[in-house]
Amino acid sequence: MESDKQASQEGGKRQRVQANMVKVFIMGKPHVVPEHATIMRAIEHAGHQIIRGAGCREGFCGACATIYRLPGDFKLYTGLACTTLVKEGMSLTMIPSVPMEKTVYDLEKLKPNVNTILEVYPVTFRCVACGTCTKACPQKLPVMDYIQAAMRGDIAAVADMSFDCVACGLCALRCPAELIQHEVGILCKRLTGRYLRKESKELDDRLTEVRSRQYDAEYAELMEMDTSVLSKLYYGRDIEP
Ligand code: FES
Repeated sequence: MESDKQASQEGGKRQRVQANMVKVFIMGKPHVVPEHATIMRAIEHAGHQIIRGAGCREGFCGACATIYRLPGDFKLYTGLACTTLVKEGMSLTMIPSVPMEKTVYDLEKLKPNVNTILEVYPVTFRCVACGTCTKACPQKLPVMDYIQAAMRGDIAAVADMSFDCVACGLCALRCPAELIQHEVGILCKRLTGRYLRKESKELDDRLTEVRSRQYDAEYAELMEMDTSVLSKLYYGRDIEP
């Protein structure tokens, strides 16, 4: 009797576990994975080891750009595998890393104007303003708008609008005109930092302190810390609203 009860409890548990699972397709093969798993976790749950295309696993490094489809929907969706949750019937696949053709330039020889965009990333001017880049951006950035700003030479506006870019490259992957939007953003942020930033006494003071090695002892202490202690410190830090 007791064992019947136990068996039925275990059966119930199994059902609940099943109820919290979804079926996804990885490279065409069906897998049942936890419904709250991210795409990255689902792939690992299915038994694959991710050795490329993963970095921070927290939506910051942009290494895990991916595409997927949903059942009955022709659209190609984009996202970061480490932060996008699975959905019932989702089809996942491997994509080669997103191409990043970086131009090598000397910031000291550039000026913060439209001629620099023309010289460093001339392909930018092929933009047809279709908005595909904005739709593809997992950070929900106004990518098309900052490319338009770059074409006007408004470097500071590009830096501002692209500030939260993680350089995953999904905008470039989907762009029909083969622009490299995220690289334009990086260039403009560098130009802004080098030539257009407002003077900041606080930053200058902090740099002087760092250069005078005022924080060396604290750095050394951090370097000795266990990862779990470091993690606690990091997540418990004061964050400006
Ligand atoms: S692994 Fe860093 S953003 Fe996904």
